[in-house]
Amino acid sequence: MSHNEMTLTPLVGAFGVEVEGVQLTDPLDEAGTHAIREAVLRHQLLVFRNQGGLTPERLKSFGSLFGTLDVHPYIKSLPDYPEVIGVIKEPQERANFGGGWHAEVSFYEQPAMGTILYAREVPSNGGDTLVANMILAYEALSPVMREMLDGLVAIHSAERVYAPGGAYEGRANAASTGVNITEAANKRVEHPVVRTHPETGQRLLYVDRAFTLHVKGLRPEESRMLLDYLCDHVTKTEFCTRVQWHKDTLAFWDNRCTQHYALNDYPGERREMHRVVIEGDRPY
Ligand code: SIN
Repeated sequence: MSHNEMTLTPLVGAFGVEVEGVQLTDPLDEAGTHAIREAVLRHQLLVFRNQGGLTPERLKSFGSLFGTLDVHPYIKSLPDYPEVIGVIKEPQERANFGGGWHAEVSFYEQPAMGTILYAREVPSNGGDTLVANMILAYEALSPVMREMLDGLVAIHSAERVYAPGGAYEGRANAASTGVNITEAANKRVEHPVVRTHPETGQRLLYVDRAFTLHVKGLRPEESRMLLDYLCDHVTKTEFCTRVQWHKDTLAFWDNRCTQHYALNDYPGERREMHRVVIEGDRPY
């Protein structure tokens, strides 16, 4: 594939593009890989339609073009593919996976660079993924607010999700996306509230509902008030787009500057996605 064949069409006003002219099962040359990486940096979210035939092996090969693939510590992977997760909801299940706003694995010391999600089976309606842009959210804050946030540090952890007593406990065996509930998920890490995108240099608001627990140095009620405000702000409609999935749609988003939310609005229907996550670096 040569980058000259790639066309990009905006999904909505905020950000994200649909990419045409690329078949990801075909070998991607250096120029094609570079063009996709540049497009992710520029648009934060890429959607590729009609990508039939992306086996776990091929999905892994595509993801590996952009970095080392993560092996998630708390989610079970596909047999023989430690880097590929099956995000599955069966018709009889009520809870879904990823149904809360989160920046992928922000509880890691080095959170993910990107997520690649591939639709294997989709409901007749619904099951979209909402994606919010943390650069746009930061830029919309007043200069005084931005200055106040600069230098603040937040504590992130997976404890509210994967630790005993967390959101997934009790669902672990029922939910088809296999999750391991473990004390290890109580681990805490610190990240700046405002981080700098390591490739574009853009500043962005790096807090999310699922994994950001507390702003260091603030009293609990101060921290709660500030995080409530910032998490609501980041996911305002004007900073969001959504991926409407069809079978064989693939989406690739930059996790350093977006967060996402899987909608659970398709009762009685099946949805199956395959996911790979590309490792990232330490926020600064
Ligand atoms: C995820 O949070 O990684 C899953 C998103 C989705 O299934 O739409």
